[in-house]
Amino acid sequence: MGAAVRFLLGGEERVLTGVSPTLTVLEYLRRHERRTGTKEGCAEGDCGACTVVLAELDGAGGLKHRAVNSCIQFVPVLHGRQLLTVEDLATNGSLHPVQQALVDEHGSQCGFCTPGFVMQLYAGWLEGRLTDRQGVKDWLAGNLCRCTGYGPIVDAGLQAGRAEPPDTADLARTAERLAAIDDGGMLHVVHGGQQVFQPRSADELAEVYAAHADAVLVAGATDVGLWVTKQHRRLSTLIDLTRVADLAVLDDAEEGLTIGATVSHRDATAALSRLHPDIGEMMRRFASIQIRNAGTVGGNIANGSPIGDLPPVLIALDARLTLRRGPERREIPLEDFFIGYGKQDRAPGEFVESVYAPRLHPDMRFACYKLSKRFDQDISAVMGAFRVTLSGDMVIGARIAFGGMAATPKRAPATEAALAGARFDEIAFERAAVALPEDFSPITDMRASAAYRLRAAQNLLRRFHAENRSPKRPATRVLELA
Ligand SMILES: Cc1cc2nc3c(=O)[nH]c(=O)nc-3n(C[C@H](O)[C@H](O)[C@H](O)COP(=O)(O)OP(=O)(O)OC[C@H]3O[C@@H](n4cnc5c(N)ncnc54)[C@H](O)[C@@H]3O)c2cc1C
Ligand code: FES
Ligand code: FES
Repeated sequence: MGAAVRFLLGGEERVLTGVSPTLTVLEYLRRHERRTGTKEGCAEGDCGACTVVLAELDGAGGLKHRAVNSCIQFVPVLHGRQLLTVEDLATNGSLHPVQQALVDEHGSQCGFCTPGFVMQLYAGWLEGRLTDRQGVKDWLAGNLCRCTGYGPIVDAGLQAGRAEPPDTADLARTAERLAAIDDGGMLHVVHGGQQVFQPRSADELAEVYAAHADAVLVAGATDVGLWVTKQHRRLSTLIDLTRVADLAVLDDAEEGLTIGATVSHRDATAALSRLHPDIGEMMRRFASIQIRNAGTVGGNIANGSPIGDLPPVLIALDARLTLRRGPERREIPLEDFFIGYGKQDRAPGEFVESVYAPRLHPDMRFACYKLSKRFDQDISAVMGAFRVTLSGDMVIGARIAFGGMAATPKRAPATEAALAGARFDEIAFERAAVALPEDFSPITDMRASAAYRLRAAQNLLRRFHAENRSPKRPATRVLELA
């Protein structure tokens, strides 16, 4: 077992011992390395000021880059990876094309958020994603600027997108160096009464978790990171899932999609969109690129949040969850996993291994709707997902699921019963809307009032019918699907 976090900081190798397993990458950069270019704005993944880029081996001899929020990532995530910060970009006194573009387009006033924009655009340049205006806007949805205005920043993104692509020889050299520092073993760091394990396979994870059932599993840390930065919780034993190779696997088969627990939202998006374009559209509005690069499908389920976006979608699709404890596996309908607020059907030492979603059949109608105050980077007030199976114009099955309406993501049995056996018409959906309050008594909070939630959920049922009653779909969306 390795006892030191080994990684590349820009071009230099670092071997870290004697650091807390919950030291954030941002704190490490600013306090230990005095790399103060990376800024702290919110310390909760929301503003993008702390954006850095991580590079890792892609399994095919190349490199995969992803921008993440350093404020909520813990230092062990760096193990075996390269960390790139704003200080790494200019070479020999010349600005990187991304930086030069921001200067040329007047894309910075106070400059506090600028390093985050630089790094997010740098990641876009590395990935060749800065090609069109809407694409650049989507790319920057997780970066806030309160003074410059986004127009010049987006223009800078488009200019940077026209610059020469990265030097492949440089990337290959980095890949070789990363391969050379990986001993293939499990990292185990102990410091100041805290410890972290970083298993490399699901078997290794099962063994370590069985032996340390009180450990906190950390996948993308987009929730767990905030337990430390906002709730100031002290976590004594952690198991970092970011290098468990066989949990990061996606199987896009003919009959359905199996998503390994640690597949990131970003990596899952294309396959989810193939299940239904609505899901792709929802994923586009799920947090930001940085959060989707880190946050995992398994974490979105395991956290049991009543306002997680994927669980209602997956429940409506009739998804099944595979849980594993030691060598034992069990499979349950996803809806049965959520028992009550903060309570899931998961035994000590048991973890989410994967989720399976069957594909839609031609006789099924499906939609999912995310309602939030902001279009981009916002948590849902209400999330509705509906799958209705038809025989001719008769409804022979309905799976209606909501998030934000109860203490857990939940199906709507009375609403479903109002639809089952009915004609697929306005009357049936009106009856379903009337039945909905039997299924849910939502709460009022800062996102929405109880009355709003109920009314909006009823209207989503009406909208679902309106959108699906004829082959020519009426325009009901802010942005139409491709
Ligand atoms: C700025 C911001 C925006 C966000 N926006 C959205 C949004 O739009 N929609 C949305 O749904 N969520 C959103 N979230 C919440 C969060 O990003 C997601 O829920 C994400 O999927 C959590 O995954 P993770 O891998 O980061 O989980 P982690 O933080 O690593 O873990 C979350 C919980 O799950 C447990 N866990 C993780 N993996 C497993 C596993 N395999 N087995 C068992 N337990 C496990 C952990 O122990 C922990 O209790 C947002 C968060 C932030 C910070
Ligand atoms: S400091 Fe705001 S996202 Fe990290
Ligand atoms: S440059 Fe000032 S807030 Fe962005």
